[in-house]
Amino acid sequence: MYIGIDLGTSSVKLILVNKFGEVIKSVIRDYDLIIPKSSWAEQDPNLWYSQSIDGLKELVSGYENQIEAVSFSGQMHGLVILDENDNVLRPAILWNDQRTLEEVDFLNNEVGVDTLINETGNIALTGLTAPKILWVKKHEPEIFKKISKIMLPKDYLAYKLSGVFATDVSDVSGTLYYDVKNKKYSQQILDIMGVVPSQLPKVYESFEKIGSLKKDIIKNVHFEKDVSVIIGGGDQAVGAVGVGIVEGGKASISLGTSGVIFVASDKFKVDTQSHFQSYCHTNGNYHIMSVMLNAAGALKWWSEKVFNDKNYDLYFKGVNESDINNNLFFLPYLSGERAPINDPKAQGVFLGLDLSHSKKDLDRAVIEGITFALKQSFMKIQDLGIDIPSVRITGGGAKSEIWAQMIADILGVEVYTMENEEGPALGAAILAMVGDGVYKNVQEACQNIVKLGKHYAQNEKNFKIYEKKYKKFVIIYPRVKTLFLSDDE
Ligand code: XUL
Repeated sequence: MYIGIDLGTSSVKLILVNKFGEVIKSVIRDYDLIIPKSSWAEQDPNLWYSQSIDGLKELVSGYENQIEAVSFSGQMHGLVILDENDNVLRPAILWNDQRTLEEVDFLNNEVGVDTLINETGNIALTGLTAPKILWVKKHEPEIFKKISKIMLPKDYLAYKLSGVFATDVSDVSGTLYYDVKNKKYSQQILDIMGVVPSQLPKVYESFEKIGSLKKDIIKNVHFEKDVSVIIGGGDQAVGAVGVGIVEGGKASISLGTSGVIFVASDKFKVDTQSHFQSYCHTNGNYHIMSVMLNAAGALKWWSEKVFNDKNYDLYFKGVNESDINNNLFFLPYLSGERAPINDPKAQGVFLGLDLSHSKKDLDRAVIEGITFALKQSFMKIQDLGIDIPSVRITGGGAKSEIWAQMIADILGVEVYTMENEEGPALGAAILAMVGDGVYKNVQEACQNIVKLGKHYAQNEKNFKIYEKKYKKFVIIYPRVKTLFLSDDE
């Protein structure tokens, strides 16, 4: 059997699966975020380790002699730094920490976007690892001097469990010091940060074996035989394995708080304007990822915060009852926006209100606005020359049949839900199987394991109406963006 460990931001989820991908047991252990200042986010790596060991003990109990391999999915971009005795030097600075505005400005404007794209395939965003290293260098120089090892969250766990200092291509792609296209560290960016290669882990493909569990771990968790350690990858790319997005042109949309369009690509592709993230995939190839900040999060705001209402069945019933031709629009930029407009100052907008409109029309406008914003990224990804005939939807939002149908109708694609949703932990277990030789590659593993749920085909009539509406939607933001007010205006 195989273990998938998903090291998330609020908890670590561990699952035990057989080689058919059936989940035998599942365990969760929580940990807290440390918020030292508003918009900062940190976590203690020692807790990731102790909670994972605790979870492993429960997971393995009863199956001690049946486990072949373990692999990981991890929250991306977090900075973990160790001294020469392998002590954690400071709490990890996480992916959602926003302290690096100055460093991002320096990287994008002084080093320059062209250099960054040439060297890494990406531009600087506050969440990425390189700006965090620059921040520590400037604000905590005593700590910076003591750094012996720099690693990402799941790599810390892998290191503690196996003793091997390793990372994988998908996770290291999100550091901004890795040349994604050529799969090597960027010497130029390392020089800018004042980092030397010996401080960085060896990079493996995500499905590669890096070693075995350490003897003391085997004893402590009561495993009864050696267990291989497969490095795994970043949570988005490993999550994509869990839903079978491993062949070029296949795409998923995860409808969580944020909305992530994930497209597998056989070749490296980069869009210099739209702030997509161009990273290595866990199958040996590449992927493109477009992150919008408020997808189901905007819906939650509208329903729960504005109307104190959690009845989403009723909400979607209202959407269905309202007139599709209501000429009402909503921009979902409730906390600024990443892709494709990349405007941290953007705000939410309702446009087109008149006396005929009821609450149901506004309900419709909200969900349409979120979906139009997704379409905008989706079209731009297709403009890179990737044909995407269908998408698999996941996350909380995928539970709504009405939203699923609307995605088919607005994007003009076939939409599938998944039979069961184990998230990135299943992707990690699949990588463990590939690394252990059960399947010859990630694609073959997914073909055998991942099962689709329901199918939604586009309704031609609605598609045509939405096309007209979408054309209006995309001209609203450029016209209103100069009106957004900041606090000091
Ligand atoms: C991807 C990203 C998130 C984190 C947290 O760029 O920031 O997926 O990995 O889960």
